[in-house]
Amino acid sequence: MTGPESEGSLVRRAVCPGSFDPITNGHLDIIARASRLYDEVYVAVMINQSKKGLFEVDERIELIREVTSEFANVRVETHHGLLVDYCKQRDIPAIVKGLRAVSDFDYELQMAQMNNGLTGVETLFVPTNPTYSFLSSSLVREVAAWGGDVSHLVPPQVLAALNRRLRKD
Ligand code: PNS
Repeated sequence: MTGPESEGSLVRRAVCPGSFDPITNGHLDIIARASRLYDEVYVAVMINQSKKGLFEVDERIELIREVTSEFANVRVETHHGLLVDYCKQRDIPAIVKGLRAVSDFDYELQMAQMNNGLTGVETLFVPTNPTYSFLSSSLVREVAAWGGDVSHLVPPQVLAALNRRLRKD
């Protein structure tokens, strides 16, 4: 084989994994920053069968595609299984994760070390924009479900989808 595919190191690839139920402005900020650092960024919607989401995986993917359409090097996919297996299949050497606070660090470090031990994949932590350091999909779902204003926390397409899902309008 010739070209970039034969030399994994020539094309710099990274994955931004998550549940994205739904994608928030905090996620979008990390994806945008990763897209400036890497040639190809894969946004991987990981399937957690034990969690029934507010949005189906296909809906999450569609929303992420809409709100990342301006980034030519971002692709959105889903994966059922281990993140390290997804990385191996796509020849992705780096996982990019946002760190919101010190409290995120313990679990993120555990996952990073586990993943590195499994296949050698590296995890790079990006400090979240302080504007979004309190933000999570679960808080957005809860506040939106009770009628609170989340318009400053999610892209307009996500806000519209939340309104449709929660108020069926
Ligand atoms: O958005 P989330 O729910 O905080 O993302 C967590 C996620 C999906 C990135 C993490 O749970 C994950 O990587 N799941 C895939 C299954 C896996 O590889 N588990 C082992 C982690 S060491």
